[in-house]
Amino acid sequence: MTLRARINLIIASLMLVVVGTLTVVDLLGTRNAVREEISASHRIATQLVREVLEHYGQGNAGQLVQFLTRVGRVRSNDMTLYAADGQVLYRSPPSAYKQGRDAPGWYARLVIPDLQPVELPVFGGSLVIRSNASRAVLDGWDDMKAQMLGTLVLLLAVNLLVFAIVGRCLQPLSDVRAVLDRMGQGDYAVRLPRLPGAEAQSMGEAVNRLGAAIETNRAASLQAAQAEARLAAERGFVQELQSRIEAERRDLAASLHDEMGQSVTAVRTLAHTLVQRCGAAPGGDPAARRAGELLLRTTDGLYDAMHALIPRLRPPALDALGLSAAVADLVQGLRIQHPGIAFELNLPDAPDLALPEPLQIGAYRIVQEALTNVLRHAQATRVQVGLVRREHALHLQVDDDGVGMARPEPVAGRYGLYGMVERAQALGGALRLGRSRLGGLAVRARLPVDGWVMPTPVPPLA
Ligand SMILES: Nc1ncnc2c1ncn2[C@@H]1O[C@H](COP(=O)(O)OP(=O)(O)OP(=O)(O)O)[C@@H](O)[C@H]1O
Ligand SMILES: [Mg+2]
Repeated sequence: MTLRARINLIIASLMLVVVGTLTVVDLLGTRNAVREEISASHRIATQLVREVLEHYGQGNAGQLVQFLTRVGRVRSNDMTLYAADGQVLYRSPPSAYKQGRDAPGWYARLVIPDLQPVELPVFGGSLVIRSNASRAVLDGWDDMKAQMLGTLVLLLAVNLLVFAIVGRCLQPLSDVRAVLDRMGQGDYAVRLPRLPGAEAQSMGEAVNRLGAAIETNRAASLQAAQAEARLAAERGFVQELQSRIEAERRDLAASLHDEMGQSVTAVRTLAHTLVQRCGAAPGGDPAARRAGELLLRTTDGLYDAMHALIPRLRPPALDALGLSAAVADLVQGLRIQHPGIAFELNLPDAPDLALPEPLQIGAYRIVQEALTNVLRHAQATRVQVGLVRREHALHLQVDDDGVGMARPEPVAGRYGLYGMVERAQALGGALRLGRSRLGGLAVRARLPVDGWVMPTPVPPLA
């Protein structure tokens, strides 16, 4: 039901209550008036008839009948004269006033007073005087009908007036509703004009402010979504870049091993032959022999350097055994190279199981760079490395007891820490630097495992 109809209903109900109350008051008033009038007239009529009967006491019934016939009706009283045998000798005529009409029974029952008839003994029979309030009651009923009709017309007129006024007063609400509907359909640019009335005016301003706020929010959300999309694209780009770098490193490691390794081996074989020929043959050239020996040592050095480089380019354990084995391998190598540093490893499970390859390589490179930094900058004696799979994520941790950083954050102009952060973000995770409980720097990374999806690669440039 509309607000307008509801207000009208309330006003109509209130008016009906007032009209009902007035009707009851009127009914009670009519009832009192009728009682007053009827009992007074009944008293007078009884008194009058008593006086007359005293006067006619000497006469006979016929004379009394003549007298009563001449008198006719005594106000609102019915008189009936009975003979000694119960025969009706006289009955007063009905009232001519509003003849043929009566008030409804329910109304009459409510209004008519309960007056007992008076029976006077006369000439052996009796004269019965009964009050008859039907005319007075009919008057009351007619008055009430007219009053109710007038009230109904007034009620109707007032309701129509109220309907029109309420409609006018509620018009601003309809405008507000129309604007809210349009906002609900996505049109947030719509605004309300200045509305009449202080309340409507402030309501309209509030709706306009709401629309403006929604517009601003939407613009902000749009910008945020665009920024998020840009970020996702950048992550994809970084991921793609790192994948390509890793692929390049893998190729480089393979080429180094296969091509350069064979060439170095070939040169080494030649140098060996040269040393043997120049040294063993009589009259051999000692200078050529020394050159051959130098060449042999150089190719040996080259071979060792090449073999040391290959694992750095592509850790072989990562491909063969997985992440935790590769990290363990890395740490084992460092233990040998740096016997003065105590390395502690925490690999409670095998987090590399079923981990996607980019995640394994990313995690390995983060640990590798963190450990390189410890060795280069920390002057540490104790290092803890942890790799735990927990709550749908891989948690990396490298702690040292070294000098630490006054402000543990990536340093402009340096690549290592920035690279670690970017790698973590490109994998959909995060990396934090802080003060370690060992006293030095703490590196913590969280890389999501479940639901890991390869970021959309950026299309190659033409
Ligand atoms: N474990 C550490 N303990 C103390 N200081 C550190 C540690 N790790 C990094 N730092 C400081 O943070 C700086 C930035 O490190 P980052 O790895 O970004 O660059 P870098 O190691 O100096 O050079 P590169 O770009 O070759 O990695 C370092 O120069 C060093 O001062
Ligand atoms: Mg570094």
